[in-house]
Amino acid sequence: MSRFVRSRTLYSTRTGPPNSEATHLSTTSCGVPRDCLPAADPHVVTSLFFRPNLNSFGHLDASLAGGIHTPSLFAHRAESCHVLFNQGSNRQASTPRGPPPTVGPMLHTRLGRTDLTVSRVALGCMSYGDPGVGLHTWTLDEDASQPFFRQAIELGVTFWDTANVYQQGTSEEYVGRAVRRYSRRDDVVLATKVFGRMHDGPTGAGLSRAAIHEQCDASLRRLGTDWIDLYFIHRFDDTVPVEETMEALHDLVVDGKVRHVGASSMWAWQFAKMQTAAAVNGWTPFTAMQDQYNLLKREEEREMLPMCADMGVGVVPYSPQGKGRLTRPWGQQTARASVDEVAKSFDSPADQPIVEAVEAVAAERGVSMAQVALAWVLSKPVVAAPLVGATKPHHLADAVAALDLVLTDDETSRLECPYVPQEPYWW
Ligand SMILES: NC(=O)c1ccc[n+]([C@@H]2O[C@H](COP(=O)([O-])OP(=O)(O)OC[C@H]3O[C@@H](n4cnc5c(N)ncnc54)[C@H](OP(=O)(O)O)[C@@H]3O)[C@@H](O)[C@H]2O)c1
Repeated sequence: MSRFVRSRTLYSTRTGPPNSEATHLSTTSCGVPRDCLPAADPHVVTSLFFRPNLNSFGHLDASLAGGIHTPSLFAHRAESCHVLFNQGSNRQASTPRGPPPTVGPMLHTRLGRTDLTVSRVALGCMSYGDPGVGLHTWTLDEDASQPFFRQAIELGVTFWDTANVYQQGTSEEYVGRAVRRYSRRDDVVLATKVFGRMHDGPTGAGLSRAAIHEQCDASLRRLGTDWIDLYFIHRFDDTVPVEETMEALHDLVVDGKVRHVGASSMWAWQFAKMQTAAAVNGWTPFTAMQDQYNLLKREEEREMLPMCADMGVGVVPYSPQGKGRLTRPWGQQTARASVDEVAKSFDSPADQPIVEAVEAVAAERGVSMAQVALAWVLSKPVVAAPLVGATKPHHLADAVAALDLVLTDDETSRLECPYVPQEPYWW
């Protein structure tokens, strides 16, 4: 089945003990090739946000004390290190304003080397959009979506990801209205994407200069905003010179329409080629990578994740819960699972022992499988913020609760060991 050599543990991880108070956030760890990492990167910051209500909050910031994570396929080069948040002299506390928190706390982090502070759990908005148009029939219409946007704001989940193609632009429309209804534009970090087909003709898809400019303007209109915080290319376009794409993206930044640019799911060499084009020409480089990463899909540990760590690119993985397959016992179905052809295309018998390991750890800990699956992704320091999908009321609360779950070495090893290397997968 696979042309890769079987490897039992791709990621070498050590996990610190649970701590009290804010410091339950504080210790995470990993085996890391230190030479792969920016030393004591001052751009990587964690914040503990208190959200007593939608209008007032204070936060604690702390610089990352040590190196980062690590791509395990390079375990022969790796040495273990602990990454300490909110400890010792790195802890810069500010007095929280307002009454004590009624929800939260939500951990925040600086995204790569950007000036964006994002919640460590992001709301994936592919679940919200008109089910009558677009790729998926399981998405929630606007009325059904509203509680999730509202709950996200209440929980401090202020990083939202959508795309022009999600249900033919209706996801962006819902997101734009929800930001105005439940929050303020400045308080939400908005990400959207360009590449997929929106209409016939050369500017309806792809990464040509004309397509990027037209599609960005259309996204801004649907979102009802003057700027996009993070603009992703949804895939690599091998029909367009990378210089044309990178210059067009740079021009959007210069025009103030986009603050930062990112890329999603491509070969590492393609990403490197685009970054090089930007560097050589003085254009804006990518500062974020959105690729699939979860216990069932770990091929990005080979090249992409180490490269992102090296470049200081923030990683915001999609489908961190395996499109739902890691959140329920093997074989159990849901409405989405029964009709989502994309998710079904990932089904593999090789996943069963991993799903069973998640179920066993969850049962022992007395938490949901979703929390275990997400805690594993969150434990990898290369990950800034996983993009979670939520279709039922408890999903987002579970996702936020995963921030409190610190897996032991033994648990991590049991979750990772059944993995069988496989072909890359990209959607
Ligand atoms: N760049 C790209 O190419 C790309 C591709 C895919 C996704 N994305 C982004 O990533 C986001 C998330 O993707 P995803 O929906 O595949 O992520 P996911 O978090 O892996 O899966 C979400 C699904 O997991 C299940 N789930 C979540 N929390 C649960 C809980 N607490 N208990 C039980 N089940 C739970 C639900 O399944 P059921 O609905 O079946 O109950 C939910 O629909 C998208 O919204 C989008 O923003 C990007």
